[in-house]
Amino acid sequence: MYRLLVTGLKGQIGQAIKDRIEHQGWDVLFTDIDTLDITNDEQVAAVFKAFKPDVVINAAGYTDVDRAEHDVAAAEYVNAYGPYLLAIQCHKLGSLLIHFSTEYIFNGRNHSTYVETDTPAPLNVYGRTKLQGEQYIKACLSHYIIIRTSWVFSEYGRNFVTTMLSLSRKDAPIRIVNDQFGCPTYAGDLANLVVDITKDHQAETGRYQFGDYNFCGDSGCGNSSGDSGVSWLDFAYAIFDELDKYQPGEQGRNLTGVTTEEYASIAIRPKNGILNCHKISPIFRPLDWRRKLRHVIAITMA
Ligand SMILES: NC(=O)c1ccc[n+]([C@@H]2O[C@H](COP(=O)([O-])OP(=O)(O)OC[C@H]3O[C@@H](n4cnc5c(N)ncnc54)[C@H](OP(=O)(O)O)[C@@H]3O)[C@@H](O)[C@H]2O)c1
Repeated sequence: MYRLLVTGLKGQIGQAIKDRIEHQGWDVLFTDIDTLDITNDEQVAAVFKAFKPDVVINAAGYTDVDRAEHDVAAAEYVNAYGPYLLAIQCHKLGSLLIHFSTEYIFNGRNHSTYVETDTPAPLNVYGRTKLQGEQYIKACLSHYIIIRTSWVFSEYGRNFVTTMLSLSRKDAPIRIVNDQFGCPTYAGDLANLVVDITKDHQAETGRYQFGDYNFCGDSGCGNSSGDSGVSWLDFAYAIFDELDKYQPGEQGRNLTGVTTEEYASIAIRPKNGILNCHKISPIFRPLDWRRKLRHVIAITMA
């Protein structure tokens, strides 16, 4: 039977993959840090030796961008050394490695959207360690697909949408950055993409080439209409507008837009994080994130 190894099960992308990958007729081994710590070389080698995956989906990551600034070694271990260990084992077995990366590998100073071949120049530790992870994979392996994505939200775990929903229950001012731009992406769409890549690999239909693909939610940003994406403040207003359907009132009344400088977060973030999805669009079309937001809020409010 065709075998898939998934890491980082308890994360939001891991959960979304679990919900969508069952019933495909594959033998799937789901792991999280408790069962497979991707930074533990002996454990990684033992799991590969016993399970012999055809495809490895690495949904594990150190994703706390601000904490990473003071926890550099831990971020490097999970985001760079872990993918390196997975890549070495994939190379030995001839397995495909599907890995997630981020728009934070770029410095955000581009005047247009980011394409796959743009030169990375991360501004923070998270971005630097994610770029290192990409570089290790590329140095060890030719059978890889790296999906660069951005602003992931879902009904699982902690993300911008769930944070806004919990802030909406408190009647306090909510300051949101209005000069960083990006594309929200539904974790379920990333999971469906991974399923599609795996099907393609199994059937050897060759729709996906090995290499890098940008994939993020469509709001015209970087995809077809080429508009300028949305700011975190726009994203917050979209969430509160949706919430207003369930709890009528002025749901967004406590929102205030602030500049990056006024917000003063620990890690520096790119102002332009808009990924251009032209490469992947003909194979797997990015979907309207607002529709997915509606779905997530409907689930959360049920
Ligand atoms: N979220 C975004 O907006 C975003 C954007 C672009 C790219 N990505 C990338 O997408 C991937 C998944 O992101 P996500 O949003 O699903 O993150 P997440 O919700 O933080 O999930 C990451 C998972 O990895 C686990 N993990 C941490 N260290 C591990 C280790 N050593 N071995 C095995 N598992 C480990 C975490 O466990 P603990 O919770 O116990 O630490 C968690 O379950 C990451 O590579 C991330 O960089 C995310």
